[in-house]
Amino acid sequence: MDIQWYPGHMTKAKRQMQEDMKLIDLIIELVDARVPRSSRNPDIDQLGKQKSRLILLNKSDMADERQNQMWLEYFKKQGFYALLADSRNKTTLRSIQPLVAEACKEKLERDARRGIKNRPIRAMVAGIPNVGKSTFINSYAGRACAKTGNRPGVTKGKQWIRLGKGLELLDTPGILWPKFDDPEVGERLAMIGSVRDEILNTEELSLKLIAFLMEAYPGILEGRYALKEEGAPLEILRQIAESRKCLVRGSELSYEKAAGILMDDFRSGKLGRITLEQAPEAQ
Ligand code: G4P
Repeated sequence: MDIQWYPGHMTKAKRQMQEDMKLIDLIIELVDARVPRSSRNPDIDQLGKQKSRLILLNKSDMADERQNQMWLEYFKKQGFYALLADSRNKTTLRSIQPLVAEACKEKLERDARRGIKNRPIRAMVAGIPNVGKSTFINSYAGRACAKTGNRPGVTKGKQWIRLGKGLELLDTPGILWPKFDDPEVGERLAMIGSVRDEILNTEELSLKLIAFLMEAYPGILEGRYALKEEGAPLEILRQIAESRKCLVRGSELSYEKAAGILMDDFRSGKLGRITLEQAPEAQ
């Protein structure tokens, strides 16, 4: 992954999405279930107004199950259609079709009133980089699905993937850029590995992760790294370095190596299912 955001990229991505919006009825917005707030860009509300929206809490297989349910409720209470997904696992995507039909009920009724029959729902997948857009498209569309190719009157080059009779998916996803206004957003995206480590120092990041885990998931670090004593995050990192024999120059403890191990373990799910952002109480 190598994401660098320049104003030029952002403008181009936004313009592309604005163009594509004209062609679709539904946005399937992917968010990362471990950071459902930081992995969204609220600009999509403006870009996609008047379009139906289905929010897919992707990578839910790596997120806390209780938080998954709470986030699901939260998004539903906000008036969105929402679903938990593991895009690498096709079976979790089976419940999408009925939700898509429900989300586009008004369009289908409008078509029926106008005597339009069998016009498929057109959908676009959107989300910030690394949230799983390509994985979702490949998994959901599957190899068997035919690309419908260009259509008369549609911008040249647009490819649609036909998913069953009633649904077509734009084969290129809409890229949203993360919204870094709040420094915690950048930190959380770095923690899950969605922005490059160089942007933020790995040691610093690991100390923040330790502080969070001690508070929200007590016992999880002690269990994995056989920690002997309690302590502040730096002391915990020192103990991880000790228990994992992270050494430099033969005998010196390497906090940097320990931080790398911790971040890798977290990102690969070895620490268990963890959600970094708590769902606001669903009102
Ligand atoms: P993007 O198009 O939005 O940029 O994301 P992409 O599909 O490339 O997915 C980014 C990474 O997230 C990939 O891993 C992919 O396998 C993983 N991923 C996507 N959806 C899910 C999911 O629901 N659950 C889990 N656990 N992982 C998911 P990678 O390490 O970058 O590549 P690879 O290991 O698949 O080769």
